[in-house]
Amino acid sequence: MFKILVVHYSQSGQLTDILSNFLETFKKKPHEYQLFYHTIKTEPEFAFPWTSARFYDAFPESVMESRVKINSIPKELIQKYDLIILGYQVWYLSLSIPISSFVQSEDFKKIAKDTAVFSVNACRNMWYMAYDRLNFHIEKAGAKHLGHLVLYDKTQNLISVFTIIYWMLGGIKDRYLGIFPKPGVSDEDIKSSANYGELLEKHVRSNQLSQVQTEMVKAGSVHVLPHMMSMEKKAKRIFQIWAKFVLKKGGPSNPNRAFRLKLFKYYLLFMIYFVSTIAMLLFYLFYPINARKIRKNIRHFQGLD
Ligand SMILES: Cc1cc2nc3c(=O)[nH]c(=O)nc-3n(C[C@H](O)[C@H](O)[C@H](O)COP(=O)(O)O)c2cc1C
Repeated sequence: MFKILVVHYSQSGQLTDILSNFLETFKKKPHEYQLFYHTIKTEPEFAFPWTSARFYDAFPESVMESRVKINSIPKELIQKYDLIILGYQVWYLSLSIPISSFVQSEDFKKIAKDTAVFSVNACRNMWYMAYDRLNFHIEKAGAKHLGHLVLYDKTQNLISVFTIIYWMLGGIKDRYLGIFPKPGVSDEDIKSSANYGELLEKHVRSNQLSQVQTEMVKAGSVHVLPHMMSMEKKAKRIFQIWAKFVLKKGGPSNPNRAFRLKLFKYYLLFMIYFVSTIAMLLFYLFYPINARKIRKNIRHFQGLD
C-alpha cells in the first residue's frame, strides 16, 4: 500500500475540485493507494465571499507570513506517508495565510520530514514568489518538493484582476454581466488536472518519482509567464515595505490601519493597470540581453533546477 496524505485549503471550493480530479486515478485503485485527507481550517475563519475591507486587510499578514490558529492534524493522521499532496493558493504574491500557517506548524514538520511533497497551486497568475516560499518551508521541514502543478486564470491579466475581485467579493464564479470571462481557473483546466494525476500515478507505479516533474512540465503542468516572473520579484520587495508600513498601525482588522490599507489599495490598482503594462513592454524590449537569465529562471520555476 502506498500511503498518500492530501492536505489543502480552499474558500470557494475551486482547489477542492481540482484536487478531486487530480486524485481520480488514485481513487480508482484502492488496493494500491491509501488516501488520507486533511482540510486546513483557520480560527477565526476567513469568511467567503470577502468584503473589500477584509480583502485588503489580509495583505500585511499574508506578505509577512504571520501565522493564525489552525486545526491540528488528527492524531491518527500523524504517521509516515510515502507522498504528501499539498493544495495551496496565493494571497498577495505570498502563500495564503492558512497555508503559510500550516507549513510553519509543528504538525507539518512531524509529517513532512524525509517525505516527498507534490504541490498543486490554483491562483490568478502571480505565483512565483509564493512557490519560492513553499520550497523554503518544505526544505526547512526536511521534506523534498518533488514537483508541482500550477493552474491559473489564462484570461488577459488586466481582465482577470477585475473578474477575480468580482468573484472574491461576490462569491459567485460566473461571467460578470454575461460579457466578461469566467474568473479563476477555467472548467477545462480543472478537468485536465486528472491527466496530471494520471502522470503522477504512472511515476509512482514505476517507482520513478524523481523524474515526474520533467514529464509533468513536458505535458504542460507549469506554464511560466516570463514577464510576470520578472515583475513579481520587484513587486514582492515593495509589498514587504508596504506591509511593514501598515503593520505599524496595528494587527488584523485594527481600524487604525484602514487609511494605510486604502492607500495600498489605490497603489496596487495603479501598479497593476499602469505600471505593469509599461514594465511588460520594457521586459520584452530588453529580452534579448537577459535571455540566458530568463531561461534559467523559467527552469527554476518549473521545478527543473
Ligand atoms: C486576499 C487574496 C489575495 C490574492 N492574491 C493573489 C495573488 O497575489 N496572485 C494570484 O495569482 N492569485 C491571488 N489570489 C487568488 C487565489 O490565489 C485563489 O486563486 C482564489 O482565492 C481561489 O482560491 P480558493 O480555492 O481558496 O477559493 C488572491 C486571492 C485572495 C482571496
